[in-house]
Amino acid sequence: MEFVLYDVSDAVGVITINREKALNALNSQVLDELSQTLDQVDLDSVRCLILTGAGQKSFVAGADIGEMSTLTKAEGEAFGKKGNDVFLKLEKFPIPVIAAVNGFALGGGCEISMSCDIRICSDNALFGQPEVGLGITPGFGGTQRLARLVGAGMAKQMIYSARNIDANEAFRIGLVNAIYPQEELLDQAKKLAGQIAKQAPIAVRNCKKAINEGLQVSIDDAVAVEEKLFGDCFETEDQKAGMGNFLKKKDDPTKVKVVTFVNK
Ligand code: CAA
Repeated sequence: MEFVLYDVSDAVGVITINREKALNALNSQVLDELSQTLDQVDLDSVRCLILTGAGQKSFVAGADIGEMSTLTKAEGEAFGKKGNDVFLKLEKFPIPVIAAVNGFALGGGCEISMSCDIRICSDNALFGQPEVGLGITPGFGGTQRLARLVGAGMAKQMIYSARNIDANEAFRIGLVNAIYPQEELLDQAKKLAGQIAKQAPIAVRNCKKAINEGLQVSIDDAVAVEEKLFGDCFETEDQKAGMGNFLKKKDDPTKVKVVTFVNK
């Protein structure tokens, strides 16, 4: 692939958008390659993904303005759908995805980070939805996901005013979970991913599904979603290993051992 790198180690996959000359802006080819990369992830061996951008300056500086500049109404709608399809694939991806936001996260860059489960960022990160300054709305889910993450009032202020916010403000409003010096960001993302990868994988996937699906429906329907996914866990070897280990520890503390969870 020309613009997307994919690397796996210790059950963690790192996807890097690698179009540094254009600050990792998302053109159609980048979107296609991202989609193909997700299709190729081996879900038997990989338990958590990290998404980041190449270089020290930018995570993703938005959708490609050059490509969008000549679009017709129908083509604009189709381009929005193309981005949304990839971002939905990322959001619904069976395993957790951590966005390691290493610089500009503007427009489509902020939007792709919001399709990930967790966002952490470097101290030079800048978030924003500058689209109205370009005469368009956010087109890859920004009007929807920003409001869900930080509340409608803050999302409207950011989107209507096209004002970018720095890492500290993003942390304050809950858009990111943590801020690190640029040189530590990827290691910190790997540390968090490693901690997730150690847990029972089916349980982690079911948690992702329960949170995502539950947020779309009423609380009555949401707890029913949870009940089903909770029940499913009792058919797994991991539940037997995890609970068995706990009970063994109680009988005899010398039997304490680290449980290695399997994908079953
Ligand atoms: N699309 C295409 N190319 C982009 C780009 C984008 N979104 N952002 C940056 N680039 C390119 C620049 O054109 C430039 O290329 P050349 O060297 O060939 O001229 C290169 O990246 C470096 O950019 P700058 O010289 O502008 O770098 P800078 O440090 O001076 O500024 C910046 C950085 C503030 C991020 C500035 O590049 C910028 O404002 N970029 C656009 C940000 C933006 O508006 N994003 C939203 C896009 S719309 C969108 O995403 C719609 C949607 O929701 C789907």
